[in-house]
Amino acid sequence: MRLLSVAAHPPALLAADRRRLGDFQLRLLAPQDVPLVLALREEVLAGLADPDLYVREDDEEAFVRAHIGADPTSSGETIGVFDGSRLAAYAMLGLPSPDHPDNLGRVLARGRDAANIASCMVRPGYRGRGLQRTLLAARFSLAQAHGKVVCVAMVSLHNHASRHNLLREGMRIAWVGQLGGLRRQLLAIDLARPWDFDEENLRLVDPLDWERQRSLTAQGWWGISEMEGRGPDKLVFARHQPATPAVPT
Ligand SMILES: CC(C)(COP(=O)(O)OP(=O)(O)OC[C@H]1O[C@@H](n2cnc3c(N)ncnc32)[C@H](O)[C@@H]1OP(=O)(O)O)[C@@H](O)C(=O)NCCC(=O)NCCS
Repeated sequence: MRLLSVAAHPPALLAADRRRLGDFQLRLLAPQDVPLVLALREEVLAGLADPDLYVREDDEEAFVRAHIGADPTSSGETIGVFDGSRLAAYAMLGLPSPDHPDNLGRVLARGRDAANIASCMVRPGYRGRGLQRTLLAARFSLAQAHGKVVCVAMVSLHNHASRHNLLREGMRIAWVGQLGGLRRQLLAIDLARPWDFDEENLRLVDPLDWERQRSLTAQGWWGISEMEGRGPDKLVFARHQPATPAVPT
């Protein structure tokens, strides 16, 4: 049995590996790229193994435009990974205002400091090279450049690959509940000040056991890693330790 996903903090950069970005170009997307993102989303959404993994937006184009800086009301940026002229992957950072209903940081009472780790999709032929993790680290930097130190992502309980990647980059399951009628986990990271956990006292939980995870997070337990080797993989929960107030000098 071994603990997985115990990430370094601040998140460790991935080992340099030509398979990851060697042949790709990375750039922030602009309004003229909206059709490329819509086409990639269409391909990925059509091929999902389980529709709960990622739910289509009511207005796909408005969602993409909002995260690409295409409208005056938009609040986000999108990083694109290109293989020549082909969009291989994209990752969005949402920058809603502190009180905006879309600001996921509000659940942790950190709306003012928070950016949303929004949608990330990798075209099927480009998976398995760690692009989601690479783009996660890039979005942490982008969030910090926007003055945001807390990043929050929303994940379906069925999206094991995505949750695995977020945990490996140092994010923790801080909240479990219903958002927009869907059962979701919120994973968060504070890039300025790592959270502490009581790692002496752990609870192992089935990744799909929504009720148990919801009850634990409501009592101050957070999901800190995955554990392999006990039948199906388990999520490891530990008590979140409140930050010790700084001692005035
Ligand atoms: C989720 C997604 C972005 C990941 O793409 P990717 O960066 O190519 O992911 P990789 O294949 O490199 O990474 C997969 C990792 O997840 C792990 N993984 C895969 N399936 C898993 C499972 N069922 N349980 C746990 N971990 C799993 C792999 O072992 C690998 O981990 P490792 O790097 O530690 O070995 C991609 O699958 C995708 O676009 N999915 C559809 C859209 C989506 O769900 N987006 C995320 C929510 S916004």
